[in-house]
Amino acid sequence: MTSSVNTRAVLVSRPVGLPLPEHFRVEQVPRAEPGDGEVLVEVHYIDVQPAMRGWLAERPAYTPPIELGATMRAQGVGRVLVSRHAAWREGDYALGGNFGVQRFSVQRGEELTRVDPELAPLQQYVGALGSSGLTGYFGMLEVGQAKPGDVVVVSSAAGAVGSVAGQLGKILGCRVVGIAGGPEKCAYLVDELGLDAAIDYKAREPYRAIQELCPEGIDVYFDNVGGDLLDAAMLHLRPRARVVISGMISQYNNTAPSVGARFYGMLLVRHARMEGFLVRDYAAQFPTARKVLAQWLKEGRIKTREQILPGVESFPAALPMLFDGRSFGKLMICATAQ
Ligand SMILES: NC(=O)c1ccc[n+]([C@@H]2O[C@H](COP(=O)([O-])OP(=O)(O)OC[C@H]3O[C@@H](n4cnc5c(N)ncnc54)[C@H](OP(=O)(O)O)[C@@H]3O)[C@@H](O)[C@H]2O)c1
Repeated sequence: MTSSVNTRAVLVSRPVGLPLPEHFRVEQVPRAEPGDGEVLVEVHYIDVQPAMRGWLAERPAYTPPIELGATMRAQGVGRVLVSRHAAWREGDYALGGNFGVQRFSVQRGEELTRVDPELAPLQQYVGALGSSGLTGYFGMLEVGQAKPGDVVVVSSAAGAVGSVAGQLGKILGCRVVGIAGGPEKCAYLVDELGLDAAIDYKAREPYRAIQELCPEGIDVYFDNVGGDLLDAAMLHLRPRARVVISGMISQYNNTAPSVGARFYGMLLVRHARMEGFLVRDYAAQFPTARKVLAQWLKEGRIKTREQILPGVESFPAALPMLFDGRSFGKLMICATAQ
């Protein structure tokens, strides 16, 4: 029988700098019931992602801030338990842009996306087939316009977005160098994901490492990190290079305004382009991209690594893992596990 109690994580204070477990409280509350046009979803997997840091700030960005005392916002995938919306039946699987960090979620039916559990395991819908995989896909194909023979460098390459971006670069016939922290992640990039080389930015000076591994320069720099790594890559751009601004995780916990790309003059010198994007810009193409990615996953052309923590209770300690390198692959929570 389904529990009448909901477990959820709420925001209790706003972090200054790194988010810490004490900024959240996990509590039990009565489970809400769906009204007309709504569905009750049992949340299975919760996406833990760097964008969450931005949602904790008081200032609005591309989404409104989370109010103190409110359930932490999160994308997720789950199973419909009760439907009062014509398009949904009990037992259907759905993706939600805001299921929240909780065990059960009530949502408007029209805000959910149908999930085909036959196409791929459910957790892939918050990983390679979720916003992180799609960011790697559209960032590399549409923004980076990577083509055969290009030299591609990807930062945070062992992460959720970077691992898909790097492998897509290989599928497209590029030479791909990944940047990650530590020998284990770097070995994974080359031995498991098949990238051509890896740079451990914690052990090597990135400017010199890029110079050594990409002596003729970079055609596409797919950036998830910003800061010093972006600066090092900019100094190696080839003519007509594309710098893809996917994210800048090294800057998210800054307490003073972030410093931008110091060597943006290279864009002029190399006739290069730098472009930021939000994956939701490509929402109309998500169904097609999911089918392509699911096929590559089945064929083993794209490999994924999921780091799955058990229960909603694990969320407060999970979020900091994204910022100190303890996350490896796609970080998520299995809400149904104890
Ligand atoms: N544009 C969009 O629509 C969109 C959508 C989703 C995500 N994103 C962005 O994509 C980026 C990656 O997201 P993700 O979900 O795939 O996260 P992720 O890369 O799986 O996880 C975070 C990883 O970032 C690395 N990192 C953290 N702080 C760092 C620092 N100061 N310097 C260098 N590396 C650092 C760590 O790996 P190491 O051990 O290698 O340091 C950490 O494990 C983020 O910037 C995110 O905001 C953008």
